[in-house]
Amino acid sequence: MKIKKAVIPIAGKGTRFLPATKTISKEIIPIINYPMIYYVVKEAVEAGIEEIIFVTASGKEEIENFFDRNLELEAFLAERGKKEDFELIKKIGEMVNIITVRQKEQLGLGHAILMAEAVVGSETFAVLLGDDITLGKTPVTKQLINCSLQNSFKSVIGVMEVPKEHTRRYGIVSGKFLKDDKQTLRMTAMVEKPAPEKAPTTLATPGRYILTAEIFDALKKIPRGAGGEYQLTDAINMLCEKDEVYAHVFEGERFDTGDIIGYIDATIEFALRDEKYKKQVYKLIEEKYLKYK
Ligand code: G1P
Repeated sequence: MKIKKAVIPIAGKGTRFLPATKTISKEIIPIINYPMIYYVVKEAVEAGIEEIIFVTASGKEEIENFFDRNLELEAFLAERGKKEDFELIKKIGEMVNIITVRQKEQLGLGHAILMAEAVVGSETFAVLLGDDITLGKTPVTKQLINCSLQNSFKSVIGVMEVPKEHTRRYGIVSGKFLKDDKQTLRMTAMVEKPAPEKAPTTLATPGRYILTAEIFDALKKIPRGAGGEYQLTDAINMLCEKDEVYAHVFEGERFDTGDIIGYIDATIEFALRDEKYKKQVYKLIEEKYLKYK
């Protein structure tokens, strides 16, 4: 069995990025010259995903367009002899199959994932949340797929250690580490954004999941949870009661680009990792920006 489909919910209003998000989708805001969503889709594609299901809303068409071919632009670039740009634009338009489904009301992450049921069918699938960009030697989604593969294709939640005072920002898992794999836990429960004193552990998900199709039954049964929304976390918790669910501590870095500081962090980091810009950006920081300290 191969995990071929990934669901990426993109229907949110991106209020933390207002006023830019009054007219553009948050996911299109670029880190250097690539939209944030590109990095998330790239992670999925590098993990072997062949089909991306965007759960979308009106006003998000520019995201689909970004991953589509743009023959007019390609012709323009070809005509001008801009070979490199032409190749890049064509490659992005061919990188993956995109299917979109609409979430007509924003009733929470759990509700968004449920919208993809008809397209996912009975297959085990990946979920990637666009607010987080991860960088791993092996793409984080690939690490989770490998973990699922080793554990009878069961659901796997990607987790990382967070400071205790941050548990309120995440879904937190609890469980027991496997004897022969110290990075993987057999999960017993998952709780959405607990206060630090109530958090069972400090293992948090930044929004990377492998889920079996049984999640859809759970998503239909859960009541509204934290924040009055249908929470994916509550459905995963329900799944834990019936089936084996695993959490895997992934290797790699993660940037919370849903937040302005996280976004600035990612922008600086990506610029400093880019051979083309590295030297100049470092020079700018050293010679110009340190004075603001
Ligand atoms: C969602 C999930 C939460 C997860 C987080 C990661 O929350 O509900 O469990 O830890 O994404 O970014 P949100 O940040 O959308 O409120």
